[in-house]
Amino acid sequence: MSVIGQGIDRLDGRLKVTGQATYSAEHKLPRLAYGVMVLSTVPKGRITAIDSASIQRMPGVMVVMTHQNAPRLPKPKAEGKTGGKDGGKEQSKPDNKQQPPNPKLSLLQDARVDYNAQPIAVVVADTFEHARDAARRLQVRYAAAPAQLDFQQAKLRPRRPEPQPERPPDTGRGNVMRGLQNAATRVDVTFTTPMENHNPLEPHATIAAWEGDTLTLYDSTQNVSGARRTAAQSLGIDPDKVRVICPFVGGGFGSKGTTWSHVVLAAMASRMAGVPVKLVLERTQMYGPVGARPLTEQHLQLGASREGKLLAVTHDTISSTSFVDDFVEPCTAVTRKAYASDSLQTSQRLATLNVGVPTYMRAPGESSGSFALESAMDELAYALKMDPVALRLVNYAEKDPEKDIPWSSKSLRECYRAGAERFGWARRKPEPGSMRAGDKLVGWGMATASYPANRKGAKASARIDADGTVLVRSGTHDLGTGTYTVMTQIAADALGLPVSRIRFELGDTTFPEAPVSGGSQTVASVGPAVYQAALAARDKLIATALGDSGSALHGLNADDVDAADGWLVAKSDPKRRDSMAAVVSRNGGKPIVGEASAEQGDEKNRYAMQAFGAVFVEVHVDPELGTVRVPRIVGSYGVGRVINRKTTHSQLMGGIVWGIGMGLMEKTEMDWRVGRAVNANLADYHVPVNADIGDIEIIVVDEQDQHINELGTKGVGEIGITGVAAAIANAIYHATGKRIRDLPITPDKLIDA
Ligand code: MOS
Repeated sequence: MSVIGQGIDRLDGRLKVTGQATYSAEHKLPRLAYGVMVLSTVPKGRITAIDSASIQRMPGVMVVMTHQNAPRLPKPKAEGKTGGKDGGKEQSKPDNKQQPPNPKLSLLQDARVDYNAQPIAVVVADTFEHARDAARRLQVRYAAAPAQLDFQQAKLRPRRPEPQPERPPDTGRGNVMRGLQNAATRVDVTFTTPMENHNPLEPHATIAAWEGDTLTLYDSTQNVSGARRTAAQSLGIDPDKVRVICPFVGGGFGSKGTTWSHVVLAAMASRMAGVPVKLVLERTQMYGPVGARPLTEQHLQLGASREGKLLAVTHDTISSTSFVDDFVEPCTAVTRKAYASDSLQTSQRLATLNVGVPTYMRAPGESSGSFALESAMDELAYALKMDPVALRLVNYAEKDPEKDIPWSSKSLRECYRAGAERFGWARRKPEPGSMRAGDKLVGWGMATASYPANRKGAKASARIDADGTVLVRSGTHDLGTGTYTVMTQIAADALGLPVSRIRFELGDTTFPEAPVSGGSQTVASVGPAVYQAALAARDKLIATALGDSGSALHGLNADDVDAADGWLVAKSDPKRRDSMAAVVSRNGGKPIVGEASAEQGDEKNRYAMQAFGAVFVEVHVDPELGTVRVPRIVGSYGVGRVINRKTTHSQLMGGIVWGIGMGLMEKTEMDWRVGRAVNANLADYHVPVNADIGDIEIIVVDEQDQHINELGTKGVGEIGITGVAAAIANAIYHATGKRIRDLPITPDKLIDA
């Protein structure tokens, strides 16, 4: 039985639970100093005075780096998005979340302040306590200027974002005006979602160390090669002079896909201090300078025939962005591919605020967009007096309605069927308020989940050593998702070896380059490279054996030889075999190395690649208190071939848990008078805890995909969150008859409504 698909335990699990996994801030370096960032306290203006001198005299303080004394950096080219002699190349095709563009950074080059909590200084001292004490006492005076902090005002002057290759700001097909006119039933509704902040357990952290003109960064990142590129570009040095190391990430969720100001500031501060500098963000500092999910307002119109056939869909989104740089929350992406409507019109616009640059947060666009679309579909189902699943089946998209090409695979029909059956959907009484459990109102709701199956070019190497073990490497990442384990399984499968004989290493720019671990693309991108590198090493090993007169396989044809259980075996005569270790040993002990570079062929132009699923939710609502519990959820997904059952299950379940948080709890509470988050800590920023989570059942339907990649696998990192907030909102409507179109659905909204 192949090791692919087996639910083997995480190979890095033991290291993590015994504290031996070294996270970025834990690397021990001689003469290490501590940097603490100081953030602005006004949302807009200029720094007029900054009293470095008085804290410079405090105990242990080595450097107070401000805009007055910070190293002058080369001016960023082309708005800071591309540019840099080598960096421009890979970023010349920004593909949204698959390869995030660099936002402009705050690197202390001038006195300007564009948002509250913008980095304005770094204090370096001999201990963390000395640095923090001094940083707290730094006196700064500002000439404050009027800031734009009112989304309602800002959205009156919407801007059209710059088109991205896969994401034009406007799309359309057919005639929506006529479609809406001809519709027997219409819904016309507006949804809003709040700002949300990433809260990985491990905060952003960087250790910067210079040796001469060579920089090493121990950085918590989803993109070691991106961090290298950004650091090199910002500092004006050759990328070859920068090494980024990141063996473990304590959660990223998109916030570490981009390289933010503190990474470069740590390098600048280290240069000034003449010693390595560690810079760890405080939890509060995670709210502002390192991205957030932006606010959205989404207007949808659906028009359907009496039978529920969609004649028109419109989806117009405005999301908040910053004055520093743009970020688009692509809410309409999901709608463009969702249903077989006769006509469709979507648009993305931006409303600019004096806040930090927003960024990717788990299923950016699809999570917020699916809340709106799948809530609106539920409203349409009630208007038509149709079952919500039946409505979706009537409008099932047999091919990609956006590109008008076939899906590489799509099992959504089976997801609806399997999910509904397991959930017991057939027993649902359609009338709102018709189901009870004691004094609680019971609601059943559902939604479609979907997320693109992304892939980017990636490289890997595999080295067979004389002891018969194999070292496989790629400069990718494990955000806690299971990359170490899954890549080991893939290499083991290719080499016919048990996983115990394979060691997979990642998170280092000296390894073969891999893309950002974002957009749920790591397995689909790096997996094929690992597979091919392992096969290349195997083939070289076989060739070595065949040419070796000391081998039992000498003189055979390469196609007659297979690798299994550490042996090379003749298929025609299995008694003729040679151990992999012995072949290397007789070769002078010289390791056999295979390398591979894998990328998508033209299948992407011929097939639309997307993962789909269906989420079924039960809620219990207290009619007097407005509190909502979620006792059970069934999520059913078609994600291609599963490499590891256990890590796949964990990713999908974790996504659903976050969906519960998005639906019921999560919101960055801003004081919009000053543009600062007031719940910038894990006590006040509400995310689900174990006590909030009931039964979550995951079904992965059998799905074969011949076109998507050599492994037939789609990513699972993000689809789990999609659809969940809508399914909860729909269940709440079913329980209460109250339609809440503004996230999160907190008790106050259910009492007022
Ligand atoms: Mo994900 S938000 O693309 O890291």
